[in-house]
Amino acid sequence: MDKILVCGGKRLQGEVVVSGSKNSALPVLVSSLLTAEQCAYQGIPDLMDIRTTLKLLSSLGVRVEREQDSRGLGDLTIRADHVTKLEASYDLVKTMRASFLVLGPLLSRFGEARVSTPGGCAIGTRPVNLHLKGLTEMGANIDLVHGYVVAKATKLHGAKIYLDLPSVGATENLMMAATLVKGMTVIENAAKEPEVEELATVLNKMGAQIHGAGSDVVKIEGVDALHGVRHRVIPDRIEAGTFMVAAALTHGDIVVRGARADHLEAFLLKLKEAGVTISIEEGRVRVKGEGRVKGVDVTTLPYPGFPTDLQAQMMVLMAVADGVSVVTETIFENRFMHAQELIRMGADVRLEGNRAIIRGLESLSGAEIMATDLRASVSLVLAGLVAKGNTEISRIYHLDRGYEHIERKLSALGANIQRIKG
Ligand code: EPZ
Repeated sequence: MDKILVCGGKRLQGEVVVSGSKNSALPVLVSSLLTAEQCAYQGIPDLMDIRTTLKLLSSLGVRVEREQDSRGLGDLTIRADHVTKLEASYDLVKTMRASFLVLGPLLSRFGEARVSTPGGCAIGTRPVNLHLKGLTEMGANIDLVHGYVVAKATKLHGAKIYLDLPSVGATENLMMAATLVKGMTVIENAAKEPEVEELATVLNKMGAQIHGAGSDVVKIEGVDALHGVRHRVIPDRIEAGTFMVAAALTHGDIVVRGARADHLEAFLLKLKEAGVTISIEEGRVRVKGEGRVKGVDVTTLPYPGFPTDLQAQMMVLMAVADGVSVVTETIFENRFMHAQELIRMGADVRLEGNRAIIRGLESLSGAEIMATDLRASVSLVLAGLVAKGNTEISRIYHLDRGYEHIERKLSALGANIQRIKG
């Protein structure tokens, strides 16, 4: 298995271009199942999770073509005009839980689906009860057989669905299902993430009638059919935030091109509170680390609150901040696994349930550490950037799931980082 070796102490500066959003691309690619016409997508990042999604769609009989252009991967075209299978197998769903998003579209367009339940993952049990509750309220017959959701829907109908939690995945699954269901479906306490709003934008470009996406009440008026679409995905706000933390950590000066400040308001306010200089320009955000930041408290919340996907990265910044900070994780029940690895690097972090109490230190020391999940793995790379000496990170396949060529991007900013082929 590959490893990443980082030699800390370099100040990062320059410009980096944000890739397309993984968490927007995944549901958008799946939404192509809702039409027999061709869908063309631009700006889809070259990530393991994207390749898994394309493999899943191909396994259903969907035609997938990716153009190559001079700069590498070009447009992606998908056509679900000959779907031959209505099943998402365990081996695919277990590697990437977002595969579960095929349930709504398959059920809505074809009247049946057999999708493996995703099971838990490193950061939590990750149940799908809200997805299933909503589909049941729309008239689906749902059985759980040998770890698979077996769903049948002779006649789905509009429904008023209340989500006990503003689940991103459940909102996306139900929104997609409702586009082809006769009548009005209302999703209350819907997730408001930019990726949810973007999915609604794409679906409406395909002829759907969705109103209120991005707010906590989404209304979907079913239509008979959807047509093809051409769409460029939004930039990845989590990747953008990750590079902003890198600038703050290394007292650097980075222009993050493509970053959408309006997708990162809570996060940017926290960076400012910690003493980081942020300047928001047209289509980019410039971040300057003017010295050691102040310890600030962080609580992750559903959008527009502080994003859980940037919690691990923020913990690294707090580990070398001046003062004590408390990081509270309210979204997932086990999302502090990076803390043990940071402690190996000398960080002073004490875990108490869903709270981490961090006493900032002058520096961390390089060590051999292990990635455990996607966002934790990138936080370990960030820690390596500022640690004294070398840091060697194993199990970086987690990193490849969600960050496009991150060592190349960090090297271009001046980091001393390399991938060691395993
Ligand atoms: C999406 O996951 C993202 N993944 C996650 O990013 C992100 O952390 C999460 O939203 C929260 O913002 C993608 O978009 C592909 P949820 P999702 O359903 O949809 C509970 C990354 O690193 N819940 O909003 O799975 C659940 O257990 C990934 O890119 C139920 O209880 O998240 C969690 O505690 C990690 N029942 C909370 O809701 C359900 O039926 C939020 O989960 C569904 C969810």
